[in-house]
Amino acid sequence: MSERVLRRLLVAGGAGFIGSNFVKLLRRTRPDVEVTVLDKLTYAGNPANLRELEGQEGYRFVRGDICDGEMVDHLAGQVDAIVNFAAETHVDRSLLDPFAFVLTDVLGTAVLCEAARKHEHEVILLVSTDEVYGDVTTGLSKEADALRPRSPYSASKAGGELLARSYVESFGLPLLVTRGSNNYGPNQFPEKIVPLFITNALDGLKLPIYNDGSAVRDYIYVEDHCEGIDLVLRKGEVGHAYNVATGVQTSGLEVARTVLELTGGDESLLEFVRDRPGHDYRYAPDISAISELGWQPKVNFREGLAETVRWYQEHEQWWRPLKSGEYWDFYRRNYKPIETEVS
Ligand code: NAD
Ligand code: DAU
Repeated sequence: MSERVLRRLLVAGGAGFIGSNFVKLLRRTRPDVEVTVLDKLTYAGNPANLRELEGQEGYRFVRGDICDGEMVDHLAGQVDAIVNFAAETHVDRSLLDPFAFVLTDVLGTAVLCEAARKHEHEVILLVSTDEVYGDVTTGLSKEADALRPRSPYSASKAGGELLARSYVESFGLPLLVTRGSNNYGPNQFPEKIVPLFITNALDGLKLPIYNDGSAVRDYIYVEDHCEGIDLVLRKGEVGHAYNVATGVQTSGLEVARTVLELTGGDESLLEFVRDRPGHDYRYAPDISAISELGWQPKVNFREGLAETVRWYQEHEQWWRPLKSGEYWDFYRRNYKPIETEVS
């Protein structure tokens, strides 16, 4: 299969967790590719994630919103492709403030598609999620399966995907979609299960497990995910979606226990709390399509988690300031004790 050669990329949402890992991977492996990062710097975006790239030739950072059509149009006119990571991404926050998700994940995606169409880009890649398939009680999700999202977050991501798909049909937009599973690794804001449990354990705080901890996810090391996205960008078939996952499912309780083992924490830190409303209990993406392109995950969950624990131990100055102010307001609103039945 021939390889697509892209010289100038607009990476939206590049200051977040996966976006910044992707940009750093790209600078390491293909320094000839010019990268413009566009990021609004919400609570989840962090300039520190990209600090090592500041001043490098072929790299620049622009602060801005993907919903700002004028700015996106201006930047899109200077590149041959867009990769979009920009999104509101935390399911629990989407239950408290759905509209922020609709704005960025649907309208923002539409603005990017419109700019890619107008400037006749070679390709636009949307970084989507396995959550668009909804709760998958048995079997594996294949890319052609119906989208059955169940949270405002996953519905907004699916909405963005469907809108982009309409641009393929209506205008011939050269669209690629990746549907990644649950990422973990360096620079993840400490609200998703892995960095939340690691930083809580390091501070001797409780690990809040929804319901009984039996919900399973396919946890993928962020660098594996980024390599998958890069491969799809270079070799993916336009118009197609690709799951990016490991094929291994792990429960929330197993995540908590492994974090405690790796941090030397005591089982008394496990705390079962009220379930997430509309909690999806299982995601299980099939990875044969991306495997055929030549991608396989390299890092198994235990190794990746040990590496991640080390990173958080060595980078307290990165995460400690994030756990303050609004963070604890959200925490108090989100986590509630399990209701006890009154007889
Ligand atoms: P994140 O929350 O860490 O980062 C999101 C980034 O987008 C931040 O830098 C933020 O400032 C930026 N952003 C938000 N709204 C914006 C806007 N309107 N305009 C410009 N920038 C904006 O997210 P992440 O975990 O790195 O996820 C990145 C992408 O990957 C998202 O599209 C997400 O849906 C998708 N994804 C995430 C996972 C996961 O496990 N984290 C898995 C699969 C797919
Ligand atoms: O599957 C990909 C998705 O993974 C991404 O698209 C999302 O952006 C990302 O946030 C993530 O969504 P999840 O809802 O699966 O991730 P989260 O870390 O929030 O939850 C993972 C599991 O752990 C889920 O079953 C809920 C449980 N959990 C989570 C938190 C935050 C807990 O038990 N306690 C918690 O405090």
